[in-house]
Amino acid sequence: MPRVAQLYFRTAIIFLIVGIAMGLTMAISHDHSAIGAHAHANLLGWATMAIFGIYHALNPAKAERRIALIQYVVYTAGVTLMVPALYLMLTGNPAMEPVVAIASLITAAGVLMFAMIVFSSETVAARPAAAQ
Ligand code: HEM
Repeated sequence: MPRVAQLYFRTAIIFLIVGIAMGLTMAISHDHSAIGAHAHANLLGWATMAIFGIYHALNPAKAERRIALIQYVVYTAGVTLMVPALYLMLTGNPAMEPVVAIASLITAAGVLMFAMIVFSSETVAARPAAAQ
């Protein structure tokens, strides 16, 4: 499996563990104020990262490009900053809002970078074979 796919799966499973821990904490305490952080840990973290990992596993040539690793770093940095900042904001720390805003923009930049990877052409090496 390409390295970036492996990185995405490992990061995704950490976010699922964190997301489930937040879900269980909310369920046990009957305090659902962190619902947004829980949903984003699970969906931007677990689900989206796993999908990114699957894409790279299915497209190993694209996964070897430098942009794939840069995209992983940008997206992961955004979500890793966003989830705890959102958790703190929703549980009574409104001062975290600017951090959430910056982290959201970094995450969105990572998504746009992933879109560039998806819309980029296949490797040059694959083209002659396809043309035959
Ligand atoms: C053991 C695992 C989980 C537990 C205990 C749990 C618990 C909860 C709780 C207590 C809420 C708040 C419900 C409310 O206030 O209406 C919630 C909301 C939510 N959870 Fe989970 N959750 C779990 C796993 C997941 C996973 C794996 C995902 C996504 C992949 C997810 C996505 C969501 C979403 C999107 C919401 C918001 C729903 C809404 O606003 O209507 N959860 N969860």
